[in-house]
Amino acid sequence: MSKKTAPSPWDQYATYLQLDKLLDAQAPWSNRAGQPAHDEMLFIVFHQTYELWFKQILFEMDDIQARFSGRVLNDRDMQPILARLDRITAVLRLLVRQLDVLETMTAQEFIDFREYLRSASGFQSWQFRLIETRLGLQRKDRLPVFHEAFDAHLRPESKKAIMDAENKPSLYMQIDDWLARTPFLERGDYKFWDDYRAAVHAVLDEKEKLAGQTLSGEALEKERAGLERGRRKFNGIFDPAQHKSAQEDGVWRMSWRALQSALFITVYRQEPVLQLPSRLLSLIMDIDELLAIWRYRHALMVQRMMGFSMGTGGSSGYGYLMETLEKHRIFSDLFALSSYLIPERARPPLPESLSAEMGYHYAGSKS
Ligand code: HEM
Repeated sequence: MSKKTAPSPWDQYATYLQLDKLLDAQAPWSNRAGQPAHDEMLFIVFHQTYELWFKQILFEMDDIQARFSGRVLNDRDMQPILARLDRITAVLRLLVRQLDVLETMTAQEFIDFREYLRSASGFQSWQFRLIETRLGLQRKDRLPVFHEAFDAHLRPESKKAIMDAENKPSLYMQIDDWLARTPFLERGDYKFWDDYRAAVHAVLDEKEKLAGQTLSGEALEKERAGLERGRRKFNGIFDPAQHKSAQEDGVWRMSWRALQSALFITVYRQEPVLQLPSRLLSLIMDIDELLAIWRYRHALMVQRMMGFSMGTGGSSGYGYLMETLEKHRIFSDLFALSSYLIPERARPPLPESLSAEMGYHYAGSKS
């Protein structure tokens, strides 16, 4: 009988991480062609690490979306949701900074192996498409490339994964529904929306009065025209019919009720029960912003590597990527809400009973 030997620590490490498989997956095509291009290794390792991080982001999203999928969000789910979102932002920050490493490769070094990519392009990263889709980027809002769908050249199973995601609520929809369910906006005689509208008008009236006292002639006319634009802008959210038509025109995507709740959470974010929801909105904005920063940095890097040449995936390259920067933003409504805030001193006070309900009531144990 042969004696069983315990695996060496190295074996355990390699086995646990399946390193043989992982480290066997970098095979530069320029080597196969007998014309080794030094920087192709970096290019491959780089894309592979990105794909691993995309996998991690999707894994975090699985959990976040499962927790959001119930009829109501359990309060105890909020902490893990925030922790996962926080981790996603940390990964995205890393992915942006990581581009510094790829930019140690010059355009000349890139062109030495570019031909081996054939039509391979990050454009076909199905995991990236899945992240975009699950966050809430809609098919109808995507830029077409040569009038083809973005997933036209993906493998059938990847296409299916994206379509399956499209048929489920995206994180955008889940957050919209969650916001729309926010309690506290109405209690007895209290209606946040009425109070907020009155406060906005008071601010604008005060500004108009001050302008009348301090300005004259053309300057006064200009100030009044600006205030009138401000009133029209605010009426666009106060009036449900105007909000609906703005939604139909694609100006707003958020539902009317979710928009009110997001403003409520932002305005009263210091109230104990709103502190975590406010953090959640902030993290979602971080994700949207980091994705935009990544798109921008990637586009600049692409321009640096290949100027204005077409991409291997068939797009116009730099021009296409720069267009996605704005067009593929997902949560821009949350950013737009900042133009509907008023100074803190004009914030309508909450009814005392409501404010008490929104606090923590732990009074300590009485021995
Ligand atoms: C030298 C390095 C790189 C070059 C020259 C490059 C070039 C391009 C170009 C030209 C496109 C537009 C689609 C096309 O026509 O091909 C594109 C898209 C894309 N690339 Fe890169 N890329 C580089 C590195 C990377 C890396 C490291 C990643 C990380 C995974 C990546 C991910 C993507 C993604 C996800 C898209 C799709 C973007 C969208 O459609 O919004 N690229 N790339």
